[in-house]
Amino acid sequence: MTLPFTFDLVPPHMTPTKFDNYIIRKLTALNNQFADSQAYEILLAKDDITVYEVYEIKLPEQAGELLHGISIVHSGKVGNEYFMTKGHFHIVLATAEIYYCLKGEGMMVMETPEGESSVAELRPGRILYVPPCWAHRSVNTGNGDLVTLFVYPGNAGHDYGTIETKGFRQLVIERDGIPTIIPNPHWTGE
Ligand code: F6R
Ligand code: ZN
Repeated sequence: MTLPFTFDLVPPHMTPTKFDNYIIRKLTALNNQFADSQAYEILLAKDDITVYEVYEIKLPEQAGELLHGISIVHSGKVGNEYFMTKGHFHIVLATAEIYYCLKGEGMMVMETPEGESSVAELRPGRILYVPPCWAHRSVNTGNGDLVTLFVYPGNAGHDYGTIETKGFRQLVIERDGIPTIIPNPHWTGE
């Protein structure tokens, strides 16, 4: 029986009381994902800083299970583009996901293989449903950590390759101090 765990939203030690996997993604893990490659290289030359961290509870990766954990995207920018997760489709494409925003400010960038795009705001208390077939990436547009609880089907799997190659159709950048959604100038899907 999996025991409940707690997660206190108190910095600097925002660590769940229980987790099995800890994933840390640094700038190098997001190679070629930010639009401004020059700004990326300059930042990376200073330090391969942590962009986001994920705490997961280990469960069988099979239908019927609900995998869940905590995602923490740190605040920062590469050029004018906010720190973000790699983003992915689920391998079993028609599997959905729930994100519950616990802390911070951000956006969920989503798109389907057919070319539909959507960007939804994340803020504390907001429950965001990522429908089946939609790729998803969380973007931190705030000054502090963006913290979410995520839940998704055990058999979903992760396809990172499609986004690594094509990118998302839309980016979230800061323009005049405001988070702004723009078409991705490097999008290579078509
Ligand atoms: C799982 C899911 C989240 C992300 C996490 C990190 O399906 O969507 O748990 O895995 O927010 O993002 P990625 O996986 O894109 O590096
Ligand atoms: Zn997912």
